[in-house]
Amino acid sequence: MSDLATLQVHGTIGVLRIHNPPVNALSPKVVQGIKNAVDQFEADRRLQALVVHADGRTFVAGGDIAEFSKPGFEAKTFNGTLARIESLDRPVIAALHGTVLGGGLELAMACHYRIAVEGTRLGLPEVLLGILPGSLGTQRLPRLVGARLALDMILSGKPIDAAKALDSGLVDALVEPGGNDALLERALVYVQELLGAGKGPRRTRDRTPAMEGIEADFFDKALAEAKTKKGAYPAPQRIVRCVQAAATLPFEEGEAVEAALFEECRASPQSVAMRHLFFAERAAGKIPGVPADFTARPIRKVGVLGAGTMGGGIAMNFANAGIPVTIVETSAEALERGLGIVRKNYEASAAKGKLRPDDPAKRMALLTGSLRVEDLADCDLVIEAVFENMDIKKQVAKQLGTVCKAGAIIASNTSTLDVNILAQASGRPADFLGTHFFSPANVMRLLEIVRGDATAPDVLGTVVKLARTIGKVPVVSGVCYGFIGNRMLEPYLRESEFLMMEGASPAQIDGAIQSLGLPMGPCRMLDLAGLDVAAKVVIERGKAGGLPDDPSYRAVVQKMMALGRFGQKTGAGYYRYDGRNPVPDLEVERICVALAEQHGITRRKSSDISDEEIIERCVYPLINEGAKILEEEIAYRPGDIDLVWVNGYGFPDFRGGPMHMADTIGLQKIAARLDHYGSQRGDRHGYWSRAGLLTEMITGGHRFADWPFN
Ligand SMILES: NC(=O)c1ccc[n+]([C@@H]2O[C@H](COP(=O)([O-])OP(=O)(O)OC[C@H]3O[C@@H](n4cnc5c(N)ncnc54)[C@H](O)[C@@H]3O)[C@@H](O)[C@H]2O)c1
Repeated sequence: MSDLATLQVHGTIGVLRIHNPPVNALSPKVVQGIKNAVDQFEADRRLQALVVHADGRTFVAGGDIAEFSKPGFEAKTFNGTLARIESLDRPVIAALHGTVLGGGLELAMACHYRIAVEGTRLGLPEVLLGILPGSLGTQRLPRLVGARLALDMILSGKPIDAAKALDSGLVDALVEPGGNDALLERALVYVQELLGAGKGPRRTRDRTPAMEGIEADFFDKALAEAKTKKGAYPAPQRIVRCVQAAATLPFEEGEAVEAALFEECRASPQSVAMRHLFFAERAAGKIPGVPADFTARPIRKVGVLGAGTMGGGIAMNFANAGIPVTIVETSAEALERGLGIVRKNYEASAAKGKLRPDDPAKRMALLTGSLRVEDLADCDLVIEAVFENMDIKKQVAKQLGTVCKAGAIIASNTSTLDVNILAQASGRPADFLGTHFFSPANVMRLLEIVRGDATAPDVLGTVVKLARTIGKVPVVSGVCYGFIGNRMLEPYLRESEFLMMEGASPAQIDGAIQSLGLPMGPCRMLDLAGLDVAAKVVIERGKAGGLPDDPSYRAVVQKMMALGRFGQKTGAGYYRYDGRNPVPDLEVERICVALAEQHGITRRKSSDISDEEIIERCVYPLINEGAKILEEEIAYRPGDIDLVWVNGYGFPDFRGGPMHMADTIGLQKIAARLDHYGSQRGDRHGYWSRAGLLTEMITGGHRFADWPFN
């Protein structure tokens, strides 16, 4: 018998105790245990009521997502158990604490009464995995809180807190926090009160959903909105249909609707992709060479060098997590400007209601400005975000190596420079690594953590852990030009520029790429980031001898910079700007015609360049570069690469990232198209040469999903 869920007896009350640390997830064994406990309770007529209670820091926080992908998965066993709990002839009370999510909330809603510790959070986050609550969550929640709030909660996936749950009828009483035993005691008292008042079972399925404020066209409107705003995702439209079924059909009919639509979501490629990312995020924390039980260095105070675009945003991440930050600049003006932007950012968030009114002042109080690098001496971690220039950064690294206290971690936010060289310059290479934040650094979730050759395992482990504390998705990269993300971006931008010189317009290229679900194609993205910034990176790389021997390589962006077309900030780049609106600009075509002539590139009619060619030429080399990155062990796993692209570059989560998408397309097709463009274009510079890994995988019949193969 499973001991993950057991029936205990307290006088005349049965207690179904769930014990599956750390979060009491509903594995098949837990479900079996619950079923056995219900059998026992049913048979034991001495028991007057049943309390459902979980050990540890939370009630059941969700289902076992790995189960969803197993062949033959069905929700029926659990749903049947919930139905049996609901039909019990004696009252069943759920005692809730922690995070009551997904299957956990579905279990709680099948009980007759619910009490919750103040601060408990309750929600149905399935939509974030491309599915819908498939254990009658869509049918029971509307019956408890009304159709409007239920739809809101299931569509957003966002949990509500216990106070709101009480207010809306999802829970019946709140309990003061006081530990798990106190909760159980309180639940036992609550049961006695119910029994004393002669209250019996109160089944959610027998209730009618409240329809207050629900107009006749409520569901039509909700469906239309789900289609326009979330049309690429499988779940939102189906969620609307399920809640509509709950509101309009008998329970059994709604149950059938939910079961059918759940299965459609579960089997959809989008949900498979989103579940892949869920597991990739978990796996990314496992770093070869860093033992699971490593001792993290305490990070109580952080230093940031440079209060420019990145420094200010980086500092905000730590202040948001309650960690004090010292920011050092070279002049009072630069410091004042940097801190002023941070303050404005916080005030704007407070004005939008995203922060409490007193939060901006509280967070600003955690930031201390200074003009003396010596003031970083008491910091546990110092991140430099000064100009991207090797000489300046080497000097700064050396200075930090002297100033920082023993045991402090020193990090560089460089996007392109060699972290090993900087590590050596610091004189403390074991304490050194790269922390590559993405812009805006306070918003973007990705943090590429660059492991130098000499980075100590505990330094790496500490920063990965810290990244999670500040709400980032950490991905470890080895040292190479551009690390994982920007290195893969390079062939993507290269091809987008060649396509422009061949006759495709920026709008045409962006349109094709955006049809995949990226919010911006390469041209709009660079216009926003600054074509001057992008061109300087190319020029610097050229100076360091890192460019192919090809004068047409990234020629467009360099020309744009030379012409002062820096993008949105100067009102013209690959587009002309009407405010923030990009407008196609014939001047860009003239520039590309001239460049094509200069470099001997044959132009075609833009109508002869298909969206398919644009996608294949921009995205397949990017995937190929990803394969090279894996081969060189710059990235540990294909999933790490996918996380980089989804969280740092807007790659759509419903495609699971470029490497997951490669599996979906088929590696053979990708290889064949790389070969095709290579032979068509005469591949003098090796732009189309396949990663050896790709060929190996095709020969071995592998997919990236099977990584590691041996
Ligand atoms: N801007 C981006 O999108 C982006 C994205 C990722 C990484 N990065 C990297 O982040 C770093 C900073 O970039 P940024 O865009 O914030 O640059 P920025 O020019 O906006 O800011 C750099 C700041 O550093 C200050 N500074 C220069 N030398 C200093 C020193 N010795 N001590 C203290 N302060 C000093 C400057 O006064 C300036 O305010 C670069 O390495 C860059 O490659 C930038």
